[in-house]
Amino acid sequence: MPLVGTKEMFKKAYEGGYAIGAFNVNNMEIVQGITEAAAELNSPVILQASAGARKYAKGPYLRHLVEAALEVNDIPVALHLDHGADFETCKACIDDGFTSVMFDGSHYDFKENIKRTQEVVAYAHEHGVCVEAELGKLAGIEDDVKVAAHEAAYTQPEEVEEFVKETGVDSLAIAIGTSHGAFKFKPEQCTRNADGVLVPPELRFDILAEIEKKIPEFPIVLHGASSVIPKYVKIINDNGGKLDDAVGIPEDQLRKAAKSAVCKINIDSDLRLALTAGIREHFMAHPEHFDPRQYVADGRSYIKELVEHKIKEVLGSDGRAPEILELINAK
Ligand code: G3H
Ligand code: 13P
Ligand code: ZN
Repeated sequence: MPLVGTKEMFKKAYEGGYAIGAFNVNNMEIVQGITEAAAELNSPVILQASAGARKYAKGPYLRHLVEAALEVNDIPVALHLDHGADFETCKACIDDGFTSVMFDGSHYDFKENIKRTQEVVAYAHEHGVCVEAELGKLAGIEDDVKVAAHEAAYTQPEEVEEFVKETGVDSLAIAIGTSHGAFKFKPEQCTRNADGVLVPPELRFDILAEIEKKIPEFPIVLHGASSVIPKYVKIINDNGGKLDDAVGIPEDQLRKAAKSAVCKINIDSDLRLALTAGIREHFMAHPEHFDPRQYVADGRSYIKELVEHKIKEVLGSDGRAPEILELINAK
């Protein structure tokens, strides 16, 4: 099964009221855990690599790992560049066989963002590659650039129509209150429930609704959409870790988003937490172990468990692989 683009995935996701999970990949076990889960549930999936992931894995490793996963799993998989900072990075990934790229010009002003996005779209579309762009600024950490909460800005609905029309992008990442990382909100931004668990402010679904009105049927992307699952945070903290006040986006809100025009939901921090939980738990139970195949395998099992949970309980993409393959094959 060859890599596929995201166009057909998003068309079906929009029509079917579900979302495609876009999971960040950095090594073999992460690729395996995600794709094994997706294959068992017959779900489409997007594997995405950041600049940091490409630097860490080096050279063509990530692409070949993803291609290996395609050899053993019969599901539609897209390979996407996450947060491409410039034309050169996007071009390098397109030339390397990625089927989708993100150009992240969200830190430029509106006109400059349009101009730079247009350059990427022109090259990508010549090569049959889809482009995601971003309007609005998320708080958090993107490839070592820390965006402080006070610099974050919601997407302005009145800008999206012109942006999409002028650039010709295939999907749009928006800022409605999500943010990157495992500490998405400060405790003082949250309330606490009866158990003392932090409850963050609700996402701005009103802004999402305005955007949907301006660009009907256009695929929307949510970055910073990890839910920071308490189970994995607890395992980490119970086994020598220290992640106090980690907080993510509540899953009922992500489920609601997945049923709307949001067609792609980005998840990285949850994978990091699951992998770390498995490894920490393993070492506490088996301090005598030093074979990486023993402890990394436990991290991989939690990644698989996590991705199964996301597909079934949040994204709703289980069983949706055949309809996407059918659409691709009908072309
Ligand atoms: O959006 C950020 C992703 O979580 C990627 O993180 O740049 O540390 O690989 P990274
Ligand atoms: P999280 O940090 O919430 O997993 O977001 C990941 C992301 O948006 C990757 O682009
Ligand atoms: Zn992101």
